[in-house]
Amino acid sequence: MNFAGKTVVVIGGTSGINRGIAEAFASAGAKLAVASRSQDKVDDTVAALKTAGATEAVGLTFDVRDPDAVADGLAQINAALGEFDVLVSGAAGNFPALTAEMSVNAFKTVIDIDLMGTVHVMKGAYPFLKRPGASIINISAPQSWLPYEGQAHVCAAKAGVDQITRTLALEWGVEGIRVNSVVPGFIEGTEGAKRLAPSPDAEKKFKADVPLGRWGQPEDVANACLFLGSDMASYISGTVLSVDGALYQRGSGQAGRMIGQMLRSMSGGKS
Ligand code: NAP
Ligand code: COA
Repeated sequence: MNFAGKTVVVIGGTSGINRGIAEAFASAGAKLAVASRSQDKVDDTVAALKTAGATEAVGLTFDVRDPDAVADGLAQINAALGEFDVLVSGAAGNFPALTAEMSVNAFKTVIDIDLMGTVHVMKGAYPFLKRPGASIINISAPQSWLPYEGQAHVCAAKAGVDQITRTLALEWGVEGIRVNSVVPGFIEGTEGAKRLAPSPDAEKKFKADVPLGRWGQPEDVANACLFLGSDMASYISGTVLSVDGALYQRGSGQAGRMIGQMLRSMSGGKS
């Protein structure tokens, strides 16, 4: 994969899976931009991207819940690096909580970050997408397809993200813009995995649900994004690509029940 001369923007690209994606594009010679809330994380990532091989790397801080800040930030990235060849939208928040026990604001917080954040990124980036040729990759989650107890907020948000993917593939396809989602399975060592499987026993149960029998690695997801961002995927749009070791075929299984059991035992059996 050679992305020399290409501009790749990764929103929420400063830790975990998304940072792995940004580093993979940097190693392939792209110009990189990342954005998230924490200046420290942005600075650390920009330095790492330059080391990894990015021809240029810039970083900005904004919260994806603020549409004006997102639009302004994306305009700044465009001024610095030109039109976007690849846009990865992956900022997200998650915590396990039963619906009856979380506040309305808790539910809304995840909708605001994952779903509305995606809307803000799509709309803010639209004027700056290379046409024809841009590739948008929305980072989704197994919760988009599979119900997990304690994850109704994430299930609703990520299902919405994938429907945005499918709809924009129609609306923007006529301009030569491709739009796809990538669904990582549970990825080792990441914040998202730690929040849902906080103990070695829980990790074992999550792993038992994966037909390939192992956690995914950040590189597994990054490789799929390199492919979708490249000309090799030039006729692929509107697809939701699972990178999950066939987890989807097994279903939410033990892990889905385990999150609910864990939360019920903490709340004394309510709901
Ligand atoms: P992570 O390390 O917590 O990464 C989240 C990124 O988003 C960070 O860069 C974070 O940086 C940024 N972010 C969070 N809230 C933001 C906000 N309001 N505005 C702007 N940036 C924000 O998480 P991860 O586990 O690697 O997950 C990354 C993506 O993969 C997410 O979309 C997640 O849903 C998806 N996913 C993860 C797994 C998994 O196993 N981990 C499985 C399936 C799907 P700041 O803190 O600086 O804002
Ligand atoms: N259980 C139930 N409710 C929770 C919760 C939990 N574990 N964590 C937060 N909430 C609730 C809060 O109580 C608050 O609701 P309230 O106003 O009714 O009390 C609401 O969610 C917002 O919490 P707050 O801490 O103000 O949100 P924030 O905007 O500072 O942070 C989060 C957003 C909560 C999603 C935070 O965990 C975060 O920033 N996550 C990013 C990293 C991440 O989640 N990575 C994994 C990605 S898969």
